[in-house]
Amino acid sequence: MLAIQYEDFGAPDVLHLRDVATPEPGPGEVLVDLRAASVIPADWKLRAGHLKGMFPVTFPKIPGRDGVGIVSKLGDGVDYVSLGDPVCVIAQHTENGTHAQCIVRDRDTLVPLPVGMDFNHAAALMHAGICAWICLVEDARVQPGQRVLVQGGAGSIGSLGIQLAKHLGAHVTTTCRAANAAFVREMGADAVLAYDEVDFAETPDRFDVIFDLIGGDTHRKSYALLKPGGHMVCLRAAPIEDLSAQYGVTMHVPVVHDRLYAIEATVKLAEEGVFRPQIARLLPLAEAAEAQRTLEAGEVTRGRVVLEIPPR
Ligand SMILES: NC(=O)c1ccc[n+]([C@@H]2O[C@H](COP(=O)([O-])OP(=O)(O)OC[C@H]3O[C@@H](n4cnc5c(N)ncnc54)[C@H](OP(=O)(O)O)[C@@H]3O)[C@@H](O)[C@H]2O)c1
Repeated sequence: MLAIQYEDFGAPDVLHLRDVATPEPGPGEVLVDLRAASVIPADWKLRAGHLKGMFPVTFPKIPGRDGVGIVSKLGDGVDYVSLGDPVCVIAQHTENGTHAQCIVRDRDTLVPLPVGMDFNHAAALMHAGICAWICLVEDARVQPGQRVLVQGGAGSIGSLGIQLAKHLGAHVTTTCRAANAAFVREMGADAVLAYDEVDFAETPDRFDVIFDLIGGDTHRKSYALLKPGGHMVCLRAAPIEDLSAQYGVTMHVPVVHDRLYAIEATVKLAEEGVFRPQIARLLPLAEAAEAQRTLEAGEVTRGRVVLEIPPR
């Protein structure tokens, strides 16, 4: 099978398209022929060596945190899918990933393709949707009528976060560059703070929940916008300092655990039309290095870069 591999940390040019052995499913496992996979910020951060303390990898490493394809071989005893089923899969950073023509998965790392969704949009959905669900439903427990600020609403997780917070009945404000104001409103945002035109920290609004996907200075300045007892939920972006005690609020960085119930909740929300994943750019598998380069350069906006994977 064809796969993207790297054998050392470094610049995008450490990524190579190689012909490698197709893995074999063991008992309880299946082989999935992948058709699409997303490229996420952590793919380039891991490749550059920034996450090696957190996620030890074995070289050669195949990147890719999620993917979509068709079940092509069943291991002994598999009764949870059939040959030819379209499925979405999840892979951890510490194992070989989805930027390849095939991957072996098991019952806990695979769900049916959302009904009515194509492969590319499902690839744009999976990891980002799971992150948004874990942060806003499981961690922040957003309630109807709450005011939510999404820091980074034009990104993949941010745009799905807006859609989910609206679905949960919240009033949603988001930050983005001015050129993306119409886009985030289309995602469902009620109010927009354009970070290249205004200082978001000067808004008179106060929030029950802030979903921070930016970190750094944005994180530090966000605490003052929380209501007393409010909650900040963050993913690991620019380094943050926990100032929650000083502001009388709570702050949490949840683990993106990918348990089956979170993956299934993500698929269900897509089938209900709540999650409308956005594709920023489609590239062939062979251009995975270009995909990571654009992400690293901050050139990607309004959704995911998705790799289209040719059939074997
Ligand atoms: N386990 C974890 O902790 C975990 C899991 C997933 C993701 N993450 C991290 O979460 C972050 C977001 O992930 P993602 O996949 O959504 O990334 P993404 O799709 O690449 O998001 C990029 C977006 O960030 C926005 N942005 C940049 N600077 C901004 C600012 N100062 N204020 C507001 N928006 C700003 C940009 O908006 P404009 O285009 O409008 O400028 C851009 O659309 C990444 O850093 C990622 O590594 C961590």
